[in-house]
Amino acid sequence: MSVAQAVRSRRSVRAFLDQDVPRPLLEEVLTLAARAPSGGNLQPWRLRLLSGEAMCAFKAVMRSRVREAPEGEAPFEYEIYPKGLGEPYRTSRFDIGERLYASIGVARDDAPGRRGQFVRNFDFFGAPAAVLCFVDRQMGPPQWADLGVYLQTVMLLLREHGLHSCPQEAWSLYHRTVRAFVSAPTEWLLFCGMAIGYEDPAAPVNAIESPRLAFEEFAAWVPPPV
Ligand SMILES: Cc1cc2nc3c(=O)[nH]c(=O)nc-3n(C[C@H](O)[C@H](O)[C@H](O)COP(=O)(O)O)c2cc1C
Repeated sequence: MSVAQAVRSRRSVRAFLDQDVPRPLLEEVLTLAARAPSGGNLQPWRLRLLSGEAMCAFKAVMRSRVREAPEGEAPFEYEIYPKGLGEPYRTSRFDIGERLYASIGVARDDAPGRRGQFVRNFDFFGAPAAVLCFVDRQMGPPQWADLGVYLQTVMLLLREHGLHSCPQEAWSLYHRTVRAFVSAPTEWLLFCGMAIGYEDPAAPVNAIESPRLAFEEFAAWVPPPV
């Protein structure tokens, strides 16, 4: 698979087959991805991995936790979106939400239906393996950007092995339960989780097409060509 093929075929997959991800394979991917660059070579990503029995136990903990604390565990680690998100970002967010809910036949005003899909985040969408990505609280925006570089490298390498993924900021809403389960130090902030597994190709939720801005909408030569 070329890099371009990996980039094109990576999508957020939200339904997985019941097929285990071999641990050595995941370790190989996560190790190689650490060749990702980071400012000052800090390599600020800190990971906890789940699969097999531990994953089942964690999902069981989360099922009752989500029932007990449906709004999550405030105060949250960070604001997932800026308050009063302006355009054109607001429309992008709205649009992908509409596509997601339409794919599973949930109407705009079907609050329980939307909630049902949201809650699937906390089952890792049925994925058999997952990464939880933390960053030391002393780190700032430059190091958070480094996490993104690392995580995208992971997602592309997963494609090379026929695996798919979904990065999940939603996990930050349950940072206390996650931290306790994986015994992560309190100095670590939970940035996101990532569901990892083999895609269920029959699941309608996996057929979503997520649009992108045209080149001219996010880039411009200086000075503009005449
Ligand atoms: C850091 C990050 C966090 C995300 N968190 C979630 C999440 O919590 N739940 C979810 O369903 N999708 C989540 N997504 C997936 C985005 O919705 C998705 O990347 C975007 O809509 C573009 O679609 P694509 O990944 O299929 O290209 C996240 C993506 C990123 C990069």
